[in-house]
Amino acid sequence: MTTTPAIEITGLTKSYGDHVVLAGVDLTVPVGAVVALLGSNGAGKTTVVRILATLLRADGGTAAVHGHDVASRPQEVRESISLTGQFAAVDEVLTGRENLVLVATLRHLPDPRGIAEDLLARFALTEAAGRRVATYSGGMRRRLDIAMSLIGDPPVLFLDEPTTGLDPQSRIEVWRTVRELADGGTTVLLTTQYLDEAEQLADRIAILHGGRIIADGTLDELERLLPPATVEYVEKRPTLEEIFLAIVGDRPDRPDRPDRPSQTDRPDRAGGAR
Ligand SMILES: Nc1ncnc2c1ncn2[C@@H]1O[C@H](COP(=O)(O)OP(=O)(O)OP(=O)(O)O)[C@@H](O)[C@H]1O
Ligand SMILES: [Mg+2]
Repeated sequence: MTTTPAIEITGLTKSYGDHVVLAGVDLTVPVGAVVALLGSNGAGKTTVVRILATLLRADGGTAAVHGHDVASRPQEVRESISLTGQFAAVDEVLTGRENLVLVATLRHLPDPRGIAEDLLARFALTEAAGRRVATYSGGMRRRLDIAMSLIGDPPVLFLDEPTTGLDPQSRIEVWRTVRELADGGTTVLLTTQYLDEAEQLADRIAILHGGRIIADGTLDELERLLPPATVEYVEKRPTLEEIFLAIVGDRPDRPDRPDRPSQTDRPDRAGGAR
């Protein structure tokens, strides 16, 4: 049985004047997959997302979302998608709840208030719901932004750099949200510059470089593009993120942090597993 892919891009091109941004992008995203589009600054990730979201016209090639061509069927495409842009699109003057009710009302959905309460609970924002968004932290804004984009249960979600600028805990919260959406069958195309984000979240990873997708596959498949690893013995050192999370991590009642042990009471770590 063949099913229509959630996103199908063929030979997509886009230039600004002489500046060729997309030089023939091909990408297929199966229904229900989480695909990370990786690329350096200016590689054209946002350009691809904007074309898929019908906010920008391509110069050539084709792109279809949920079976609808973005150029000839923009209305159908818009009804199937939601976009969380690179910069949070929440209204700071309104409260979190008001933002959600507003979007649900604009989308002509029944029971905007009920939809808002449900999303507030899902995104752990119920307590802050009555506060103006101006008082929210970056992570809370991001979560509200993603919550707003889920109103109406779109089958395809675009997340443009969903965790840029967030602290490690907020990033993990956003990751959890994305995973839950994927488990519920939503197709997610996310752009990121964080390789660990792609590793954590994506079923498939596509690398955009020089205006084309130069690699596309699962992490295992991409790893196989490199020469076989040589086995070396190296001491396993924690990453800075692991250290940060261990120190600040999920410990609301921070136990009294031991001061640096002195040379005399420092345990002998020789032979201790790290
Ligand atoms: N309206 C525009 N006019 C001219 N050039 C533009 C326009 N929009 C984007 N560009 C250029 O197109 C290129 C791709 O931009 P795009 O925003 O898609 O990159 P990106 O991969 O999303 O980068 P970032 O990681 O910084 O978000 C950049 O060189 C950018 O300067
Ligand atoms: Mg961008």
